Formats: sequence, structure tokens, C-alpha cells
Amino acid sequence: MNKETMKSPPLVSLLKVDKCFTEVGGRVDVLKCLDFKVAEGAFLAIRGASGVGKSTLLHILGLLDTPTKGKILLNGEEITRFSDRKISHIRNRDIGFVFQFHHLLPDFTALENVLMPARISGAVSSREKAYCKELIALVGMDHRLEHLPSELSGGERQRLALARALIRKPKLLLADEPSGNLDEENTKKLHQLLKDVHENLGVTIVLATHDISLSALADERFVMHDGTITQEITEEQTHG
Ligand SMILES: Nc1ncnc2c1ncn2[C@@H]1O[C@H](COP(=O)(O)OP(=O)(O)O)[C@@H](O)[C@H]1O
Ligand SMILES: [Mg+2]
Repeated sequence: MNKETMKSPPLVSLLKVDKCFTEVGGRVDVLKCLDFKVAEGAFLAIRGASGVGKSTLLHILGLLDTPTKGKILLNGEEITRFSDRKISHIRNRDIGFVFQFHHLLPDFTALENVLMPARISGAVSSREKAYCKELIALVGMDHRLEHLPSELSGGERQRLALARALIRKPKLLLADEPSGNLDEENTKKLHQLLKDVHENLGVTIVLATHDISLSALADERFVMHDGTITQEITEEQTHG
């Protein structure tokens, strides 16, 4: 992290966030007074057992869900002051998501799927089309531009889902167990790709995973436990 990023406020901060779900089965307190900051340009991994609240945390960071209590700050500004319209605009423009399931549209080609978020937000320029092809090449799928999702492997679909999440040049990429359905080789490939994307495009990444070897790829690692989150201190940090 350079001096500039240390001075500017975090891209997203959660302050004393609680999240509880009240369902038929009873009340579940998932996040408890949780504080978390995502600095611009960071690559963070969040690890934790299934059901600990990783997805809930990512949904709140991505403005897909709201906390029961506590504050969300974007670049130091509290978002409760923003209109719903402004929040959805920020979510569509600045935040990209990759989930465990690719959610590609079955009737559209690889190229059309990656371009879709740009198309939804208006007419697509030739520059955007060119950028789309660049992204598809970056994820190693330029030999499959005209293929349908059903004609691709699981790993290939996830790589396209990653390209699609990047098409609008988001500031923040949230990846929720993106390799959860992949075999070991494709898992490695996808995570190396996340690292490349972080280095080449400078996008801030928060990755949720239950796998310790995958979280090791990130620059900073966190563990969720009992509604809170703590940073894992590596050997280097202890001795350096
Ligand atoms: N919409 C919801 N309604 C009720 N409970 C939920 C909802 N979403 C998540 N939960 C509960 O919150 C807990 C955390 O879920 P989740 O964030 O998906 O965990 P993780 O991603 O770490 O596996 C789980 O106990 C889950 O059942
Ligand atoms: Mg989850």
C-alpha cells in the first residue's frame, strides 16, 4: 500500500454492523458489531466455515443487502444519506460480483454474456466491444467467443463470469466462493486469474472462500468467527 492509499478513506467501511435474520425457524444473529475496512487497491480474502456469514458480509459490502444496525461508508461518506436510486447506480457502476454459480444467460454467446451489463446500461460503443474482447482474452477465453454457456466447461464459464463482472470497470470486485463448484486444477487457474486481474486492472478485490490455500493468494487475510472478523497475521508480519 502506498502513502496515497493510506491517506484516502477506505473504499468501503463497515462500522459496528449487526445483521440478523428473523425467519420462521427463529432469529439468526449472523454479524455482531462487525468492523471491516476495504482500502482501495486491496486484495483481501475472507475465510470461515460454511454458514459463518461470508456471503452475508459480501452482500452488505456490495450494497445488495442492508445491515440491521451499524453504518456503511463509501469513500468516507455514510450511505444512509444516499437515495435508493443513487445506491443502485453505485452498485451497477462500481461493484462487480462473481458467485459460486456463473449465472450466464443460456441463450447468449460468451461474447454477448460478457457484454450484457454494458448493454443493459445503454448503447454499447465500439470501444466497449473492444474492451470486452480484451477482457475475454485476459481470462483465456478468446477462442470461445461465439460459444453458448452449455458448450463450455465449468471452469470456462466461471472465467467468463469473471470477465462479465469486470466489463463496467468496477472499483470493487466481490468474489463469493467463485471456485466452489470447480475441480482442483480449475480452482487454481481461477484464483491465479483473480491475482492477474488485481495486478493488471488495479481493481480492489474481496474474495470469500472456505479454503485456506486460496485465501493465501490474497495480500491480506481475514477469518470470520461467531459474527465477527479478525485479520490473520502472517509470519512475515510478526517478524518484519
Ligand atoms: N435470507 C436469509 N434468511 C435467513 N437466514 C439467512 C439468510 N441468509 C443467510 N442466512 C443464515 O445466515 C447464516 C450465514 O449465512 P451465509 O452468509 O450464507 O454464510 P456463508 O456464506 O459463510 O456460508 C446462515 O446460518 C444462514 O442460514
Ligand atoms: Mg456463502
